[in-house]
Amino acid sequence: MNRKKSVIIIGANGQLGYDLKQVFADWKVVSLNGPPEKDIDIRDEESIKKAFQKTKADFVINTAAFTDVPKCEEVKEFAYQVNSLGAKNVARACREKGFALIHISSDYVFDGKKHSPYTEDDGPHPLNHYGFTKLEAERLIRKETDSYYILRTSGLYGKAGCLVKGENFVDKMLRYAEEKQDIRVVDDEILTPTSSLQLAKQIRRICEERPDPGIYHATNQGQCSWYEFAKEIFHLTGKKVVLTAVHQKDFPSQVLRPLYSVLENRNLNIRDLDVMDDWHDALKEYLEQKGLLRKHLL
Ligand SMILES: NC(=O)c1ccc[n+]([C@@H]2O[C@H](COP(=O)([O-])OP(=O)(O)OC[C@H]3O[C@@H](n4cnc5c(N)ncnc54)[C@H](OP(=O)(O)O)[C@@H]3O)[C@@H](O)[C@H]2O)c1
Repeated sequence: MNRKKSVIIIGANGQLGYDLKQVFADWKVVSLNGPPEKDIDIRDEESIKKAFQKTKADFVINTAAFTDVPKCEEVKEFAYQVNSLGAKNVARACREKGFALIHISSDYVFDGKKHSPYTEDDGPHPLNHYGFTKLEAERLIRKETDSYYILRTSGLYGKAGCLVKGENFVDKMLRYAEEKQDIRVVDDEILTPTSSLQLAKQIRRICEERPDPGIYHATNQGQCSWYEFAKEIFHLTGKKVVLTAVHQKDFPSQVLRPLYSVLENRNLNIRDLDVMDDWHDALKEYLEQKGLLRKHLL
């Protein structure tokens, strides 16, 4: 009989972690949560060793990160410890145990100066500390192990919401629709919003096919501004709101963000492995699952 394949999910209670657990339900899944549950703290090598001790895994999926972009500017050393050194620690433990690593990185490794989708061959140049820590993670992982898949994604939303932000962008817009008279959303940051469920399915495909190790862009298809994304959310849910397009500079945030961070899934496409839908369809799927899609669109 075939041995059941196994996967360790680090950050299993996070937004992506939640969907990974569903998508890998027929595999042996070891779910590891960070502080405060403390199955694992990726800043601590001993804690990783202990968590991996009695486990065999075909893949380790590291979703763990400190994802609060503005806060990363305030607690720079902490963000570096989790996002960069933590990723390095996981990569080292994977090499020692002979596990393949899937690590999640970000579109924020780019500066947004390009006007066409970034491929895996484009040079990164992060604008903010979060992006810097994610890029450092990529560099450190590649020094530690040859058996890695670094998946860069963007604008994630999923059923579990983003833990540090408390809710994802879609849910936030739907809450605003109930609470606010006038909703202002930036129209000059262009990206590809990505469903964490679809990303989890993409990760599963990679685990099944085991392509060459390397960096892979993995987002839904197409592109939009946050304003256009919000507009589509309200259209699909039938919410009547006053939605105003504003510019990045109109918001008081001190954090620089790329104005254009669309990624092309070139390395997946070349290998015929891209399973990601257009972002409109992925959003529809998400809203339908939540029972929020307008009846006539079902
Ligand atoms: N959200 C986005 O828009 C976005 C965009 C591009 C890339 N990404 C990347 O995608 C990945 C998943 O994001 P997400 O939205 O699922 O984030 P999330 O909901 O905030 O989940 C992050 C997870 O990291 C865990 N964690 C934090 N510090 C840890 C530590 N020291 N040790 C162990 N676990 C720790 C948290 O576990 P506990 O809460 O249990 O501590 C949480 O489960 C991240 O690597 C992120 O950088 C996200």
